[in-house]
Order: sequence, then C-alpha cells, then structure tokens
Amino acid sequence: MSARLDWVATRGDALRGALAMPGDKSISHRAIMLAALADGRSRIEGFLEGEDTRATAMIFQQLGVRIHAPSAGVRIVDGVGIDGLRAPEQPLDCGNAGTAMRLLAGVLAGQRFDSRLIGDVSLTRRPMARVIEPLTRMGACIDAAPGDTPPLVIHGVDALKGITFASPTASAQVKSAVILAGLRAVGTTLVTEPRPTRDYTERMLQAFGYPIEFSPGIARVQGGHRLRPADILVPADFSSAAFFIVAATVVPGSDLLLERVGLNPRRTGLLHVLRTMGADIELGPTSTQDGELVANLRIRHAALSGTEVAPLHVADMIDEFPALFVAAACAHGVTRITGAAELRVKESDRIAVMAHGLRALGIMVEEHADGATIHGGALRGGQVESHGDHRIAMAFAVAAQRATESVRITDIANVATSFPGFDMVARSAGFGLRTIQSDATADPV
Ligand code: S3P
Repeated sequence: MSARLDWVATRGDALRGALAMPGDKSISHRAIMLAALADGRSRIEGFLEGEDTRATAMIFQQLGVRIHAPSAGVRIVDGVGIDGLRAPEQPLDCGNAGTAMRLLAGVLAGQRFDSRLIGDVSLTRRPMARVIEPLTRMGACIDAAPGDTPPLVIHGVDALKGITFASPTASAQVKSAVILAGLRAVGTTLVTEPRPTRDYTERMLQAFGYPIEFSPGIARVQGGHRLRPADILVPADFSSAAFFIVAATVVPGSDLLLERVGLNPRRTGLLHVLRTMGADIELGPTSTQDGELVANLRIRHAALSGTEVAPLHVADMIDEFPALFVAAACAHGVTRITGAAELRVKESDRIAVMAHGLRALGIMVEEHADGATIHGGALRGGQVESHGDHRIAMAFAVAAQRATESVRITDIANVATSFPGFDMVARSAGFGLRTIQSDATADPV
C-alpha cells in the first residue's frame, strides 16, 4: 500500500491573477450518463477529469458504451440507446462518488440484468435507503449491506412503474435517481422536494430531447421516450471555485479572477451568504451555455462579519460548508449554521470534522445536531485530519493562508476526486502549499 499523502499549508502571498477551475462535477456525471443512453454520438467538452467522474465513464464502458477521450476534458460517447446497456461482467466501482452510485441506482433499477455497485470506505458508509425506498416502490429489487449501505446489488426486473414521490430529503441525487428510473418506467413519475435542489438532470434531459416538465422543487417525466445525442459544454464547477472565493476574500491584498464559473441559482447560496458577511465579489457579464448561467467572478479581499445561515440557504450551498466554516473562522463575531444535518452524511461528517479541525487551529466552535456556531478568531498552526474528504482538505488549505504557523492536513489524496491539480492551481495563485508523504516530518522547510 502506498504512503498516505498530506499537505503542509502555510500562509502564502496575496492571491492574484486569473484562474480556470475544473469542469462541473454534477454536470460531468450526468453528461456521461445521458450521452450513454442516447441514440448515437455525443461530444462532451469541459468534462471534469476527476476520479469521481472518470469512475462514471468507466462504469458505462463496463455497461457496453464506447467512450473515447481524444484529449483532456473531452469525451466522445457512442450512446447505445435507452434499452442498449448490457450486463457488466464485474462489479461497478463508484469509488468515492455518491452521485455516481445514487444516480446509477436509478439507471440500473429498471434493467433486465443484475449489477453490483461498490465504492470506497467512505462511500460504503453512506446512506442508500433514500434511493432504495422510492426505487423499490417503482418495482426495483435492490439488496444492500446492513444499514442500507453499499454495496448495492440491483437485480434485473421486467419493468418499473411510475410513482408520485414526495422526497423527505432535499437531495438532487435522490430526485435524479427517481427521474432516471422513470425514463424506463411505465407511466408518469412525479418527484417533489422539501426544498428545491440543483436541476441539472432535468435541464440535461431537455438538452438530450427527452420531454420533462419541471420547476423548482418538482419534476415530472413519462417513461418510454428516447434521447437524442447532444454536444455538451460543461462550465467550471462553482464548488471548486468556492475555495478560491473564500481564500481571496480572507487573504489581505487579494484580487483574483475566476473564469467561466457555472452560476446555477441552486448552487450559489455561498455568494449570497458571503456578501451578507461583507465579501467583495463582482460578477462579470453573464452568458448562457446549454441553459446554464456562466460568468467570470472577481474577488477582492474584504473584512467579514459573522452571520446567521438560515435553513433556507442550505440546499443552495450544500457542498460549500467546509469553505464557509473557514470564512466564519476568519470573520469578526459569530456565525451560526442551522438546518444542515445533511452535512453529517457527506464524504465525511462535515460538521464534526470541520469543528474538530478548526478547534485544533484555535477557533471556538460549538457543534449542534444540525449545524454549528463558529466564533471568528485568530488561526494558529497545527494538524488537522481531512478524513479523506476532498472538500475538508481544500478548506483547511484555505484556512492555513490565514494561520500564524504551518498547518498539516492529513490524507489529501481524495482531492483528485473533484479537483485534480488543486495544489498547483493554488500555488500559482499565491498559496503556500506542498504535498508530502505521511512518513515525512511535519516541519516545513
Ligand atoms: C449532487 C448533489 C448533492 C451534492 C453532491 C452532488 C448531485 O448531494 O452534495 O456533491 O450532483 O446531484 P445530495 O443530493 O446528497 O444533497
């Protein structure tokens, strides 16, 4: 087994220049999935070359879809049609990717063949009842490990039936799994959500010519239609940009430009919250790309004040809490987060892990069942555990840019799931950051 990789992050320079962020993870997953199910050849540009999205592409190859990668960020997918997937010979390995596993459960639930979805240690702990229950109501037959966790064994069935599903969880993955199963179901499938979540599955089905009706918090599809191939240009991932938005805000003297960032309103809750805290974030002219809003973001350093993050904003910034915890630690006063219990079932328990790590760096944090109260203060150096969670690792690399001493961040290899090359991009912007093997000493040179 190879040695664990850690980061040693130190206060760097003011953040300057223009940065290109990697492609959007949610859109890249969906682009592969729908292109695979379309009748003919699709082209995807701006595809995220992360481990999560590459796992999805690999799985569709195992399901009989030809996918070529003529250059980095490009995929040519020869779709096999809605009925064309074939039985895989091996288990389908989703790695760290919850999106891959939950959406694939929806795609595979209505197939005639059996498949087995596996994942890494983190994914194997994540709850799957939220997709198993509605899919079972549609007629799927799914076995899981005790506690309804992966691996998932999805048995072949003759047909699924459409359902009306009032999802108890505000989760785009759950909604998408049910919609995708609905494509192969007899009749209508209707999903409602307690709060609207990202609607990429819905928008992309439209881009592939599949009829769907949707508005915030509700989607309706009928089974039995087909998908036309499409050319998809994937915008830069707002969740990857979030780390640089917070970093440029908290590091004095920073003035940073982030290019072509996707600004789907269901993703940009962090912009709203940071602006309430006093951040200086300017949007360049917006344009629309395949139905998605994109714009350059210019971020200048600003002093932040603590705020209340209302449950209303949680779904719109669900992946941005690690970054927000760091902004809150650097703010004057207290930030209180509520209604965010979902953070406990992400790649790690992000409430506990962020609270623990910030405390190790001298910040006072009170943990609640559904959030935390963070008292802004001075960050000192120390060691924090990322628990193999990509976003926790990147958040603490940002925190270190304001710490008095170096911060060692353990187990950072999973950053490659969503942001391969983060360390290089961050260094080019001004971060103090280097990768070391876990057996090296923590003392930076
Ligand atoms: C995602 C939905 C969110 C998000 C994840 C990506 C998606 O998960 O946290 O990173 O692409 O649909 P939940 O549906 O569990 O909230």
